[in-house]
Amino acid sequence: MSTHPPAGIPLTSAKSRSTREVLRRMTVYLRPYPWLAVGTIGCAVFSLLASFAFPKLGQFAIDVVINGQRADLLAPVMLALIGALLLRDLFNSLRIFISNHLEQHVIFDLRRDVYARLQRMPVDYFDQRASGDLMTRVVEDVNSVERALIDGTEQGSVALLSVVGVAVMLFWMNPALAAVAMLPLPVLAGGALWYTLTAHRRYRRQREAASALNTLLMDNLQGVRQIKAFGREVHEDGRFALRADALRQGTLGIMRVWAVYSPAMSFAGGLGVALLLWLGGRLVLRGTMPMGELVAFLLYLRMFYSPMGQLHSLNQMMQAARAAGERVFDILDAPVERANGVPRLPLAEPVRGEVVYDNVGFGYGAGAEVLRNITLHARPGEMIAIVGPTGAGKSTLVNLLPAFYEPTAGRITIDGQDTGKLALETLRQHIGVVSQEAFLFNGTVRENILYGRLDATKTELQAAAQAAHAHEFIIRLPDGYDTKVGERGVKLSGGEKQRVSIARALLKNAPILVLDEATASVDTATERLIQEALDRLLAGRTSFVIAHRFSTIQRADQILVLRRGEIVERGTHEQLLAQDGLYARLAHIQNTATIEERFESLGVTG
Ligand SMILES: Nc1ncnc2c1ncn2[C@@H]1O[C@H](COP(=O)(O)OP(=O)(O)OP(=O)(O)O)[C@@H](O)[C@H]1O
Ligand SMILES: [Mg+2]
Repeated sequence: MSTHPPAGIPLTSAKSRSTREVLRRMTVYLRPYPWLAVGTIGCAVFSLLASFAFPKLGQFAIDVVINGQRADLLAPVMLALIGALLLRDLFNSLRIFISNHLEQHVIFDLRRDVYARLQRMPVDYFDQRASGDLMTRVVEDVNSVERALIDGTEQGSVALLSVVGVAVMLFWMNPALAAVAMLPLPVLAGGALWYTLTAHRRYRRQREAASALNTLLMDNLQGVRQIKAFGREVHEDGRFALRADALRQGTLGIMRVWAVYSPAMSFAGGLGVALLLWLGGRLVLRGTMPMGELVAFLLYLRMFYSPMGQLHSLNQMMQAARAAGERVFDILDAPVERANGVPRLPLAEPVRGEVVYDNVGFGYGAGAEVLRNITLHARPGEMIAIVGPTGAGKSTLVNLLPAFYEPTAGRITIDGQDTGKLALETLRQHIGVVSQEAFLFNGTVRENILYGRLDATKTELQAAAQAAHAHEFIIRLPDGYDTKVGERGVKLSGGEKQRVSIARALLKNAPILVLDEATASVDTATERLIQEALDRLLAGRTSFVIAHRFSTIQRADQILVLRRGEIVERGTHEQLLAQDGLYARLAHIQNTATIEERFESLGVTG
């Protein structure tokens, strides 16, 4: 039995939409560029008109110039022919130029919109999705949709125009022959219909396979150390091959059908030409039709069937775009954070930092409740310490404050204002967060700290770094503040990363601060130094501290003991000791142990 998950199964499947809906919505992106669109189609039409002259001039050359022995006309006719060719290709060149501009403008706009939208999704949206899948949508699917839109409108209108134009020309020249030439049309139309109806499914499968492959790749690149540590290279080779194979099969599935469909359509078209040659040949032999007319007819017919072929390719492109478009619109249509249209208030300034949780309850998605009846009151400037065994809900509790998740019951207020009714920017602007896993962006140390306040001066930057006890190690780095930290900050140690992320939060200078195990990966001496600095900095700010060591929380104004999503004890260190409950038992364990170890030794679990 293979332990591999079935490859190619999408993590999130896009809602099915009609080609028309996808096209209609894409067309909106053409609106800002009416002149580029008109230019593209205009050039295509002029190029087409120029090419219309070619068969007629050929006919004239054979019937009048050659058969009529008019040597004097040969040069002018040929010059006219060259002129027509030149015009055709000049317009073509211009069209390619303009349409590429249009295409890149539109791709840029759409991609920017998709990204902007993506950033404003609730945290929960990302919990449910794989980054590789979202990346595929923003990078690959956007391209595919746009290519179909631009090439579609352009080639589609040109192909249609030439098909109609040539058909008119043919019937005008010789209705009987023209009717013969049209005989394969029903077959072509039937083929196109069948292809349209079935292709979407195959394209969808292929896009999902591409996404699944990117998802695995992204995950594995992030987990490369784990792959090595567990010696899973061969195992991962297999998993990768499985996904790559699903993509291969998906793509071949499309190509297999295309390999039959496209030549079959071309054969049907070829049959039309052969039929025409057959009947036309007899007419010429009988002398009822001039040779040049037959040649012109054949040349026009080529101009009839090749745009037919183009319409078929276009159909292929449309089906690909439909599958890709569904995936793109899934992002554009998903509700962003607080999307219900209620006007949002700003947080009244200056913010004093009084935080109240009023009977707050919360559960992730459809899962069980993680927090129940959380009631707390942090007065401005107070330090609230939260302790509890692992999984008790400490991080969840503080993540509700900047509205990373919305409470499912009760409400949270800051200075008396319900945070659920606030505009997210003003809410988050006033909360500094050091999250449990320190995340740094792939840039320099300086850029990472400045993320807290982009316009901070050099002195402010260094003051923040000093307060976080990061300055000393930063200046010892090869390029000091300009050292690149690598992806997610891999080039720094865990403690260094933490201190950079504390500096970043301090630089933000917000009246409310959330420190989730901010000092977990630094040694006791450094923690004490950071703690002293924080004490100074936390003065005048309301802070929520989920601490790793007992020493950190003893100074807190309030200590909340969280267990299984509920606050089971609360008070100051002394009050809690006097209560002689869980906290007191924790405190009596030998001093060096971390809080986790203390809980463990008591056998208390989240
Ligand atoms: N994004 C999420 N989606 C679903 N469930 C989650 C999510 N994050 C946490 N949980 C669950 O919620 C519960 C509380 O998690 P939380 O991270 O708040 O615990 P914690 O007290 O911070 O633990 P620790 O001390 O280990 O950091 C856990 O049971 C966890 O499995
Ligand atoms: Mg946590």
